Amino acid sequence: MPAAQHKAIDAIQRAHQIAFAPFIFQTVISLRKLEILDLIFEHESEGGITLKSLSEKSEVDLYGLGVLLELAETMEIVLKNEEGKFQLSKIGYFLNFNESIIANLNFANDVCYKGLYHLPESVSKGTPEGLKELGNYQSIYQGLSTLPHNARNSWFRFDHFYSDEIFDEALEKVYRNCPKDLFDVGANTGRFALKVLQKYPETNLSLIDLPGQLDAAKKNLEQHGLFDKVNFIEIDWLGENPKLTKNADAIWMSQFLDCFSETEIISILKVCSNHLNSEGQLFIVETLTDRQRFPSAKMALEATSLYFTALANGNSKMYSSEVLKNLVEKSGLEVVEDLSLGDFHTMFVCQLKK
Ligand SMILES: C[S@@+](CC[C@H](N)C(=O)[O-])C[C@H]1O[C@@H](n2cnc3c(N)ncnc32)[C@H](O)[C@@H]1O
Repeated sequence: MPAAQHKAIDAIQRAHQIAFAPFIFQTVISLRKLEILDLIFEHESEGGITLKSLSEKSEVDLYGLGVLLELAETMEIVLKNEEGKFQLSKIGYFLNFNESIIANLNFANDVCYKGLYHLPESVSKGTPEGLKELGNYQSIYQGLSTLPHNARNSWFRFDHFYSDEIFDEALEKVYRNCPKDLFDVGANTGRFALKVLQKYPETNLSLIDLPGQLDAAKKNLEQHGLFDKVNFIEIDWLGENPKLTKNADAIWMSQFLDCFSETEIISILKVCSNHLNSEGQLFIVETLTDRQRFPSAKMALEATSLYFTALANGNSKMYSSEVLKNLVEKSGLEVVEDLSLGDFHTMFVCQLKK
């Protein structure tokens, strides 16, 4: 059933908020960067802090601070009491201190904000026209290791936030069949690899990614004295005829397939399934749009799809379970288990079709 229509009066309010959404967003970014939200929170026990004191303590001009806080108050990010003292609302508190909100805010601002201006051309052309705002790259993954400092930090913070928390739980599932040879496809900086080797040091582990990411993984593993325990395999899955040269008992792909279009996913899965031992398992871990408990999580994934459209590659997205399962089936594999991990993730355990 289509969603119920709003009353006109509510609809026009929402429409106005959307029209001015960039102003509200940049107000929050400014209040965080100028450390005003921190300062307000520090004065919580005194019942808040006035605009004048805020300006003196922060050395931010009264005029500028005033316009930021005016909109922030209307948007219920800060509250002002009868004495004219500002306090953080719960929304303001989360915007300043919640780890997932901070990862999302910084990713939206440092990686996506300028590039999203090019969304209409990106959609028309099917290419990430916004990427030029970050550098001259074919796809964002070719450029990850050389992105501007803030963009790079915010990209990794976002990526790690949405992957790391389920690695321990996932590892237990991967090791139920005691795999000896494991491929980590889309290994990135080697954070999953570290977990594997710390817990299962006998594993013959291969990290597979683009050269820039493998260099970062090499450094990371070197720092932990684990460099010699790993094989590094450079592959560009979008290059001509990408090949693997050996087989694995388990193939791990975390937040990897969302970097590719449906057609590309089928060809990657076909190559991988040709290198899976007959009783081997391929593990796909994704945050799927139709498997989210909270509406905000679904919205965040749908927004992340636009990052792929305008910045990452121009043709991929966060998928639904139905679409992804269908692609697995078309690749000569079947999903033998469909598990949920943590609050947001789904794991498909796949095997070769018998
Ligand atoms: C979103 S990250 C996920 C990283 C990690 N698996 C995790 O769960 O945090 C996607 C990874 O896929 C890799 N990747 C993207 N496009 C690729 C390509 N064309 N060829 C090889 N690897 C690619 C990226 O370099 C990156 O390391």
